[in-house]
Amino acid sequence: MISIKQVLRSIGLKTFSETCNFENIYGLEKEKQALMMALTAKRPCHVLLVGPPGIGKTDLVLSIYNANRSKAYFTYGGHSTNAGMVDQLFHDRPRILVVDELETMSSHDQVSLWGLCENGILAETKITKTRQTQMNVWAFATSNCTKRILPPLLSRFIVINLKRPARDEFIEIGKMMLIEKEEIDPTIALYIASQVYDKKKNADLRDVIKIARASKGELMKINLLVDIMSDNESK
Ligand SMILES: Nc1ncnc2c1ncn2[C@@H]1O[C@H](COP(=O)(O)OP(=O)(O)OP(=O)(O)O)[C@@H](O)[C@H]1O
Ligand SMILES: [Mg+2]
Repeated sequence: MISIKQVLRSIGLKTFSETCNFENIYGLEKEKQALMMALTAKRPCHVLLVGPPGIGKTDLVLSIYNANRSKAYFTYGGHSTNAGMVDQLFHDRPRILVVDELETMSSHDQVSLWGLCENGILAETKITKTRQTQMNVWAFATSNCTKRILPPLLSRFIVINLKRPARDEFIEIGKMMLIEKEEIDPTIALYIASQVYDKKKNADLRDVIKIARASKGELMKINLLVDIMSDNESK
């Protein structure tokens, strides 16, 4: 499999630190490569990450936002209207738009986004007044499902379907998260990640973090928490 560095080299970039290096996001190599391709495309290219909770969708798009803050705008879909997303886009003219949980965005804002993704035209009509501008924006979004996304908007995205990681990948990512981000001993980190995967029905990487924090890495507490959380699930 080709690496992100190779992709960047092939398009003439020496380093990807200016655009995004997905620091502290483990695995998900294909997804990172696809995001980098879109991010470094010469003309606007939009990516939507779709998948179940706790698999790193927000982490990936936040990484793009954090690496490009001066030219990027971030919003949660459900907050976009209250946060005045359309006003902000008219005013700031960002190059990168990051929308977390796109499925919760109002239809009104989805229509604005659709125009922007389609041909770079941002238009808004309020009562009888219409305003319009043209800008090049690369949109990166996440969603748990595509049901509530307007079909014409959805069709403007490269849709990447992320699946729950398989056992080995889950344990490796969970372990690395705990070692690097939570400073947990590697043996304990491995134990927590494997216990969560093996005992919980819908293992979520967030559970690995919750158990590590609450148990402070103590074996008895880890076992108790894993048991309680698994029991709750079967009710
Ligand atoms: N591949 C990964 N590498 C490092 N950390 C990860 C990875 N995947 C998930 N995490 C961590 O797990 C937690 C959940 O990830 P994230 O918030 O990105 O999930 P999500 O897919 O956006 O879920 P939701 O659909 O519920 O919003 C975060 O603390 C995140 O840092
Ligand atoms: Mg998320």
